[in-house]
Amino acid sequence: MHDQQRPTHWTTQRAMSKPVLYDELARELDALLTGETDCLANAANAAAAIYHALPDLNWGGFYFVRGDELVLGPFQGRPACSRIPLGKGVCGTAAAQRRSVLVPDIAAFRGHIACDTASRSELVVPLLTADELFGVLDLDSPVLGRFDAQDQAGCEALAAVTARHVREAVSVRTR
Ligand code: SME
Repeated sequence: MHDQQRPTHWTTQRAMSKPVLYDELARELDALLTGETDCLANAANAAAAIYHALPDLNWGGFYFVRGDELVLGPFQGRPACSRIPLGKGVCGTAAAQRRSVLVPDIAAFRGHIACDTASRSELVVPLLTADELFGVLDLDSPVLGRFDAQDQAGCEALAAVTARHVREAVSVRTR
């Protein structure tokens, strides 16, 4: 169940604008992930940090590219579908097109994959290093129209921080 009482950055610092808050969150996320060399640990902490920092979410986490599918990674929220074909649903569309997909009303998105019946709006941001796509950040909200262009820009910055640390961790581990 979505916890309306969950403390977040934004419920305690409402005076700050979204760009300022996302900027601060990106710095905090960078500090949290710096120094850890395990990609799973970094993805898990990034999912938790993002989910608990942003208000009005019922699901937040990652899917990673495995062949021609996305496979579920670390997340916060209700159990979700494990595999999504590239090109399917909001996540697969964002991955196939290597661009963010902002869905103000999931009922209006043909092919939306429902994992949590509480979800009303969704934002999916690709995880990219240079030109390589390796996953997506998926955020669901029980609020219609929860995400706007400022959220998209802010979450793209959070995805970039996460991508850098998860990818660095992979290259350290396999070196
Ligand atoms: N709604 C997504 C599926 C993933 S869940 O929201 C966690 C989609 O349509 O791709």
